[in-house]
Amino acid sequence: MQGRLQGKAALVTGAFGGIGSAIVRRFLAEGAAVIANDLCGAPPQDLRASGSDSEDRLIAHLADHSKEADVAEMMQQARERFGGLDILVNNAFAAFEDTDIETLREDDWDRTLNACLKGPFLCTKHAVPLMKERGGGSIVSISSVNALRAVSETAYTAAKGGLISMMRLVAADFAEWNIRSNVICPGTVATSASLDYWEQFPAGFAELKRMYPLGRIGEPVDIASYALFLASDESSWVTGTVHAVDGGLMAGTKLSVR
Ligand SMILES: NC(=O)c1ccc[n+]([C@@H]2O[C@H](COP(=O)([O-])OP(=O)(O)OC[C@H]3O[C@@H](n4cnc5c(N)ncnc54)[C@H](O)[C@@H]3O)[C@@H](O)[C@H]2O)c1
Repeated sequence: MQGRLQGKAALVTGAFGGIGSAIVRRFLAEGAAVIANDLCGAPPQDLRASGSDSEDRLIAHLADHSKEADVAEMMQQARERFGGLDILVNNAFAAFEDTDIETLREDDWDRTLNACLKGPFLCTKHAVPLMKERGGGSIVSISSVNALRAVSETAYTAAKGGLISMMRLVAADFAEWNIRSNVICPGTVATSASLDYWEQFPAGFAELKRMYPLGRIGEPVDIASYALFLASDESSWVTGTVHAVDGGLMAGTKLSVR
């Protein structure tokens, strides 16, 4: 049986982390060739075991998605090894000290915006020419529910909100080349990034979990499955959209008393 991404080449940034590695696993299992990018470290052991021939279709590439020379080199890899690029997933992020606007430090603002917004700008900028050559493509960007309602963390919220606006414009600008651009806004997902943070606040974490109408926080595969749909041709008439994948968080919480 043909995989849903058979014959497609993808670049996933932040691919050694929780959500990124889940996306790489899903993409490999559906037949894609994948450049798994991360800043440092090594891909999780099981990434190469996702399918019988998947080892040939996986390239781990260490690079900083917020440095233009690094990004250009990744695109060169895509061209040389896979003949081009069909799918980009803007997923990488790094967390820095982030507070309300009164106390947020300028260098933490700069570092957060670099990690969460400049990276997607550069990766998208350099992916578009390759996608034009292929007759189209799909860009999936991972934002956050923080961009949809007030939660916390000023710089992260600004970056993730900016990502939605930028990627919506990309959808309009490049629709005539059949390049689609959509955004996923995850709620809390069980990755080390979120679990390490919430470990410090067990009472707050218990309260947070109760806010999710579906009764649980997300798993990386919940986001990966949605990214697969948006990356594949099954969503060929979907562009410029924002999808909350959040266990119903944005729908609101039912009152337990009335
Ligand atoms: N986990 C959650 O609860 C949650 C909720 C909403 C949104 N998100 C979003 O999902 C995405 C993935 O988050 P995660 O929880 O899997 O995080 P994670 O920390 O597990 O993974 C992020 C990865 O990005 C990499 N990275 C950092 N800076 C980089 C750079 N300059 N270049 C390349 N790679 C870099 C990190 O090394 C890491 O492996 C992020 O965009 C995050 O904002 C996560």
